[in-house]
Amino acid sequence: MTNNKTIEVYEIGPRDGFQSVRDYIPLQTKLSIIEKIVEAGLKKIQITSFVSPKAIPQMKDAQELTVYCLEHYPGVELSALVPNLFGAKKAAETGLKNISYVVSLSESHNRANTRRSHEESFEELRKILDELSEMEVCLDLATAFGCPFEGKKMPEEGAAFLRPYVELGIKTVNLCDTIGVANPAQVRETIAVINKKYPDLTLEIHIHDTRNMGMVNTLAAIECGIKTVQSTLGGLGGCPFAPGASGNLATEDLVHMLCEMGYKLGIDEQKLIEAARYESHLIDGIYSGHIYKIDDPSVKQIKD
Ligand code: COA
Ligand code: ZN
Repeated sequence: MTNNKTIEVYEIGPRDGFQSVRDYIPLQTKLSIIEKIVEAGLKKIQITSFVSPKAIPQMKDAQELTVYCLEHYPGVELSALVPNLFGAKKAAETGLKNISYVVSLSESHNRANTRRSHEESFEELRKILDELSEMEVCLDLATAFGCPFEGKKMPEEGAAFLRPYVELGIKTVNLCDTIGVANPAQVRETIAVINKKYPDLTLEIHIHDTRNMGMVNTLAAIECGIKTVQSTLGGLGGCPFAPGASGNLATEDLVHMLCEMGYKLGIDEQKLIEAARYESHLIDGIYSGHIYKIDDPSVKQIKD
């Protein structure tokens, strides 16, 4: 089924993982982890977010970190998350070309996360696209499957919500299971409904592993044709504005599964596992990864 196939594994730990850690992680530590991620062969990394330091103090070094990474990793596609025009401009000043603009399908979560109504968030994006036309902007649709305040989200709601964004010119939407409540049937249905309505839209997936469904939901998305999958090193993660959110799907677990299934990723699995171990020794956080905790993670042939 999977021969000759590939998936773009999109590492977002330096943003989604680090932002969940309360104590400030020194810039040098962040950079040393990013370096290990790059050395393992990851080609697409979300390195930070340009957000209010009052909202997320952890990201106060976004500018310095981005400038360093742009200079040192020209062969890697680097991105940052932004919640507003101010952040997008700050990102652009560093020379960054890719940003993810976050809006939540649930208006309650959108207010908790960005202090904006849906309408205000939409208008903010319009300004970003107008003023920073050279930027590649991916829409991060948070709480796409469910919200801590509003409950389960149906596929039709997400699809209808996206209409004005698609009309505005958004070409890529990242479906985020911010609090890890999705199930594989819901993932399949949501992707099918959105694909049918917007056949030219590219979808990505971002799943939290809160209920141990990170892998099955991600696999369901891959089986629906999704080619770019987000995950975090070690499974470090959690949204500070979403009660109950916990770690993300772990990159090294995802890579291991895909490699075992015959996908060609160009990623050094062993280096990635070592990077996750390295990170877990340095940073105290919630890790949902499995493989990095095993002494010898290689799969042995069992002979009878
Ligand atoms: N980067 C840096 N500083 C920013 C900023 C950004 N993107 N956006 C706003 N600020 C600063 C303003 O300059 C202002 O500073 P001042 O108090 O020194 O004048 C302060 O933050 C408040 O600005 P305001 O526009 O009133 O924002 P707010 O207080 O209503 O907060 C957000 C709105 C969106 C900026 C804030 O909620 C935020 O950054 N949220 C991040 C959410 C997030 O990252 N969630 C997790 C990822 S999904
Ligand atoms: Zn997330």
